Amino acid sequence: MSQYSSVGPSEASLPGTTLERHALDRFRRTQGATGDFTGLLQQISLAAKIISSRVSKAGLADILGLTGEVNVQGEAVQKLDDFANRTLVHCVEAGGHVCVMGSEEVEEPIPIPPQYPKGKYVLQFDPLDGSGNIDINASIGTIFSIHRRKTPGDGPGTLEDCLQPGRDIVAAGYVIYGSSNMLVYSTGHGVHGFTLDPAIGEFLLSHENIRIPERGDTYSINEGNYSRWAPEVRSWVDWIKSDEGGRRPYSMRYIGAMVADFHRVLLRGGIFAYPGDRRNTNGKLRLLYEASPLAFIAEAAGGAASDGKRRILDIEPTALHQRTPLFIGSVEDVREAEEHFRRGA
Ligand code: AHG
Ligand code: MN
Ligand code: MN
Repeated sequence: MSQYSSVGPSEASLPGTTLERHALDRFRRTQGATGDFTGLLQQISLAAKIISSRVSKAGLADILGLTGEVNVQGEAVQKLDDFANRTLVHCVEAGGHVCVMGSEEVEEPIPIPPQYPKGKYVLQFDPLDGSGNIDINASIGTIFSIHRRKTPGDGPGTLEDCLQPGRDIVAAGYVIYGSSNMLVYSTGHGVHGFTLDPAIGEFLLSHENIRIPERGDTYSINEGNYSRWAPEVRSWVDWIKSDEGGRRPYSMRYIGAMVADFHRVLLRGGIFAYPGDRRNTNGKLRLLYEASPLAFIAEAAGGAASDGKRRILDIEPTALHQRTPLFIGSVEDVREAEEHFRRGA
């Protein structure tokens, strides 16, 4: 049985609970809240709708658009990653809720233009995750995290504001552009999923209070990297797919877009892993806008996230684009992996 309750419209004529209403309800119950967070979430959701609309037309736009760098309207053609990045920056920068942003697509922290007020939050994101999946019409996503600013005052934010550990996240979420489009977010109290109703252009509450099963029966890893893994990673994967002790081997599922692989793990349980290897000792995934936000969501849903030894949320970042090995999902599956690595191969 699925772990979440499905919430439909209370009356046929009503659209159900929109993301905005859900956030507002919580805002009204939070003492001292200023509405900044609700406003920021609203801007992120607008960006998500714009990106989702563009993603669903990706094939069409490519066919109609281009021969080279310029489409039929005479506009320069943007890579979808770049489009998603610009959309998020554009939707958020003028709102006055954030003081600085960090993005996978931009080398340095993104300042708020001088003409706009600087807010108390820091937004970091992977604007398009799994972008290699666009051409084959498979799921992709957007990942984001929100911290409070560290630097005092209401001036521009700095790199110091971006380099904060995951345990200090105020809210995190992701959007999955799949067979339907969903926004999943948490402020640490419950993880909630909203499905985009394209007819009205609203995210409606569809998965309230998602909990990750304590144990799953699938593992998700790029096993093509096997020959480059450390012996203990190889032996963990050998073990997870073995029938040692009469147990059922885990099944393997790998989409190659972390948002999509994680979304399955969140709903069904199991473990997603991207370990380090001989070539990349810290693996591939970025701490600040990939691993940390999903770790925050995993923990809020009763799961766990580790780099193999320590809690992802406790890693103190030292660089905007630093990478980390990642083992994330059902608490028992993550603990078992850690235990295996402690013992060695
Ligand atoms: P991005 O598209 O933002 O660069 O991220 C791709 C990441 C992640 O989504 C996925 O889990 C991983 O790359 C897949 O990597 P491999 O192709 O090495 O398996
Ligand atoms: Mn990514
Ligand atoms: Mn990306």
